[in-house]
Amino acid sequence: MASSKSTLPKDFIWGFATASFQIEGSLSTDGRGKSIWDDFARTPGKTLDGRNGDVATDSYRLWKDDVELLAKFNVKTYRFSIAWSRIIPRGGREDPVNPKGIEFYSQLIDALLEKNIVPFVTLYHWDLPQSLHDRYGGWLNKEEIVKDFARYAQARILHLQLSFRSSSVYYRGTSHKLHHRLTMNEPWCISILGYGRGVFAPGRSSDRARSPEGDSSTEPWIVGRNVILSHASAVKVYREVFKPVQKGEIGITLNGDWQTPWDDSPENVAAAQHALDVAIGWFADPIYLGQYPPYMREMLGSRLPEFTKEELKLVKGSSDFYGMNTYTTNLCRAGGDDEFQGLVDYTFTRPDGTQLGKQAHCAWLQDYPEGFRSLLNYLWNRYHLPIYVTENGFAVKDEDSMSLEQALNDADRVHYFEGTTRVLLQAIHEDGVDIRAYFPWSLLDNFEWADGYVTRFGVTYVDYETQKRYPKQSAHFLSKVTAFQMSPV
Ligand code: NOJ
Repeated sequence: MASSKSTLPKDFIWGFATASFQIEGSLSTDGRGKSIWDDFARTPGKTLDGRNGDVATDSYRLWKDDVELLAKFNVKTYRFSIAWSRIIPRGGREDPVNPKGIEFYSQLIDALLEKNIVPFVTLYHWDLPQSLHDRYGGWLNKEEIVKDFARYAQARILHLQLSFRSSSVYYRGTSHKLHHRLTMNEPWCISILGYGRGVFAPGRSSDRARSPEGDSSTEPWIVGRNVILSHASAVKVYREVFKPVQKGEIGITLNGDWQTPWDDSPENVAAAQHALDVAIGWFADPIYLGQYPPYMREMLGSRLPEFTKEELKLVKGSSDFYGMNTYTTNLCRAGGDDEFQGLVDYTFTRPDGTQLGKQAHCAWLQDYPEGFRSLLNYLWNRYHLPIYVTENGFAVKDEDSMSLEQALNDADRVHYFEGTTRVLLQAIHEDGVDIRAYFPWSLLDNFEWADGYVTRFGVTYVDYETQKRYPKQSAHFLSKVTAFQMSPV
């Protein structure tokens, strides 16, 4: 079907995204094993408001309400993640699978399919089974974690596959083509925030004030390599065992904001590329191009863990699409001392003193849609694969301390989505970028990791006292935009 400049392509899918630990709660229900976030979040000082993930948005119990919301918002798809420790409570390849965990996600998937909502499933969104961390150091241990992740992927895919196949609605309502899975969410955050800065579980860092253990100069890079290998091994399982029958797609989702020079001096132009190399290329280049960006080697020397030839063969080409999580743009200046940003300083203040855009509640986010468009073009030109925008969103400043009425009137978030949906269409129609999906983050306000609950990203307000859900203006805006722009199934 021909698409005009204000419509989305026929097969384009859109929907909201969430993640298991951020919404489920019920951490010891139905045989779920502990994850590394359970106790970490309960430890005083680890979250801004001292609150944890024990209840979150209570979605393990209230998932039907969430599905109703999705249907009301006219989405075509829903991105959610599966808690590894619900499927295999102790996580390892010799450990038993938990039928209750399988049942939970199977019924969620069936309920989505009943409503013609395509499940877009993430296997790993940061909730590593605690037992794997305790037994052998979790992501730090290449030999063990790669095998255990592949087994989890196999168990997860196998069992949920069966549930898809036994569901008659699967054949009626959806097509194979729209059937996608993601292995990992945001490996940069897993590695740097968990093992470098120590602000996310398991909280390892060389900063002794922050954590008593860890080595930030080596561990994040080791974890990064192991996450890439685990992803690639899961993809191999999928492609060999399931894809021939199932014909779905599998890929990884990387975080990465647009990095642009603060001014046009050659050192700042180079700095912006260095920032991109570490924020994105560290993972994307091995996966899509088969090698690390040269700057990673230059910056880290022998601290950059290599891949063997065999491993590289496994890694290269291990994603069917480019999964992109993006929120903002940084203005880059050379001369920084933070390796996690490629030795580049970030600012939102232009040389003339003006700000890039509206400031969000969290310090790292301003509203600048032009950067989103530039990033889409950069990724398309560099990696030449269809792009799925798997996260994009805005946390309104001080929303948590507003009255309900004020919070529902989230004009700044609407402004943000007006901008991103506008440039998304421009990137498709004017720049020729192949974009196939868009997932605003998030369906609901939820547990925002180290920020606890004070930073709200939801298009639905959650009253944490009652767990009642109230759609904000942004939810109405997005459902309307897409209702007009999407062609019928
Ligand atoms: C990316 C993460 O995947 C998600 O879990 C988080 O809540 C959002 N960014 C907002 O920070």
